[in-house]
Amino acid sequence: MIQYTDELKEEVRSANDIVDVVSQYVTLKRSGRNFFGLCPFHKEKSPSFSVSADRQYFHCFGCHKGGDVFTFISEIEKISFKEALELLAERAKIELPVSENAEFNKTQYLKDKMYKINAETTIFYHERLYKPLAKIAQDYVKQRKLDNKTLKAFKIGYSGEYNELYKYLKAKGFKDEEILATGLVNKNERGEFIDRFRKRLMFPIMDVSGKVIAFGGRKLENNEKMAKYINSNENLIYSKKKNLFALNLAKQSDSKKIILVEGYMDAISLYQRGFDNVVASLGTALTEEQGRLLRKYSEQIILSYDSDGAGQEAILRALTILENQGCDARVLQMEGAKDPDEYVIKFGSGRFNLLVENAISLVEFKIKMLKNKYNLENSSDKIRFLKEITKVLSSVENRIEREIYIGKISEKYNISKEAIYAEVNKSTYNQNVNENNTLVKNIVKKKEENNVNSSIIKRENMIIYLLINHFKESYEQIVTNITVDDFKLEVNKLIFQKILESSAEDSETLLQNIANIEDSEIQSHVSEILVTDYGISSIEKCIDDVVNTYNRERLTNRKLEIIKSLENSSNLNNDIKNQLESELNNIMLELAKRK
Ligand code: CTP
Ligand code: MN
Repeated sequence: MIQYTDELKEEVRSANDIVDVVSQYVTLKRSGRNFFGLCPFHKEKSPSFSVSADRQYFHCFGCHKGGDVFTFISEIEKISFKEALELLAERAKIELPVSENAEFNKTQYLKDKMYKINAETTIFYHERLYKPLAKIAQDYVKQRKLDNKTLKAFKIGYSGEYNELYKYLKAKGFKDEEILATGLVNKNERGEFIDRFRKRLMFPIMDVSGKVIAFGGRKLENNEKMAKYINSNENLIYSKKKNLFALNLAKQSDSKKIILVEGYMDAISLYQRGFDNVVASLGTALTEEQGRLLRKYSEQIILSYDSDGAGQEAILRALTILENQGCDARVLQMEGAKDPDEYVIKFGSGRFNLLVENAISLVEFKIKMLKNKYNLENSSDKIRFLKEITKVLSSVENRIEREIYIGKISEKYNISKEAIYAEVNKSTYNQNVNENNTLVKNIVKKKEENNVNSSIIKRENMIIYLLINHFKESYEQIVTNITVDDFKLEVNKLIFQKILESSAEDSETLLQNIANIEDSEIQSHVSEILVTDYGISSIEKCIDDVVNTYNRERLTNRKLEIIKSLENSSNLNNDIKNQLESELNNIMLELAKRK
């Protein structure tokens, strides 16, 4: 086994900025000196995943995963540390010393050959489509209305008979075991080599970078007994759950959306008609890996499944996968055609575009499903419908978003807004009572926050923000002027106490120490603080201001106290009275100076 030197590790590390690397998987927003996003390692709706550009470190306040760029890659790609290093070296175009690991070298060599075989095969099939013997395929693509530009863009082809591909690849100098590894040719019991794909219309499947990793072949004969499609099996270079057909093209689109369809033909047909942002899942239900790919390349994903095919459950599952990863996912509602290909041919791209624009969200989709279950003319059904949609609506955390839905539903299903609100409120109340500890805790916290003036909370949060992000500049001033008792919010008291107890001497260590506190309330509060933009233009002035505010408050309180004592001065002796009066004078002076 080759051991990479520490020097090399450092070279690879410094060539891969963690913010850039993480950004390929997670949408990050900057806040102060850190970046935040939705954690790719656990499901969440508000961001508690942070990346520090300074420390080149990531950490999740929710699930406690953390580490450097190597840890991140090995966790997210589910590969070893060494493989992560190799992947990052390749990303940064750093040459690694050739491994002495024969096994590793052999695999690399074979993979390389497989890519080359796929590339040659693509040319072989594609050129063959234009030969006179391919009449059946030419007629077919005509019938499917595919134009030549499309055939070229997707490198569509026509596969040969018996062992034509095998002979072609042998003539190119590839070895049997290399050809067999791609699955393009099989060896039968008699030891003969036979092409897997024969007389089929061929769709090369490419990875994001455009390298051909597999093929799908459609039958051309009208033979019920034949499988409509045959696809490459999974192998060293092809995993269908990690790829999407046509993503190499869609990622170049200017559109912020990606349209997800089921069939190769849907993607190709839409592409030809001006939709350059379409991808097809490869005959599988949408996987988490595919969801991540989609999120990486788009802001909104439009699910456009066949109108009969997938069924509601598959749509629900896909939408849920996408939403859990923080995607804005919508479902396109199609009528009058069985799939997008048929639709766009029948009604044109303008009409299809309208469907894209009017695609509905997961909540709306769920409600539509419910509507189909009930007869809204019937009043007891209508009540049940109302109860069911309430459950769906209560899951919408954002109040404004919820209000928009309520408005839409009220209009569409002719139910008064008040009735819906009444049900939703009832249901959220019941939920709160029944749900587990954290929810109850959150409610307590929310209640407490309601009692404490919001500008005070903001100020307290900002102090913690300053300590975490600008430790060196702020620590001395803050701890000499502000005490634990000055904090009104219980959770802030706790955090401030922890900061005082921490032996940290810089922001990095402090953040690490806080990250290690195992208390979900503290963690979610800290991440909330860190993602908030306090609009600070000058750190120094901000620290001065906040310290001043506390001092002024303390002086004002003392002033009121003295005034009160002096008002009841009959029981005080003169010395004390004089003392109080001079203190009061000083306070007045001090306050005047601070104005
Ligand atoms: N599929 C498959 N094997 C099958 C049928 C389907 O692998 N026997 C996969 C293919 O990736 C196909 C997708 O599922 O593209 C969707 O199937 P379908 O809608 O039937 O295919 P289309 O591409 O729309 O083909 P066509 O319009 O020619 O029927
Ligand atoms: Mn179809």
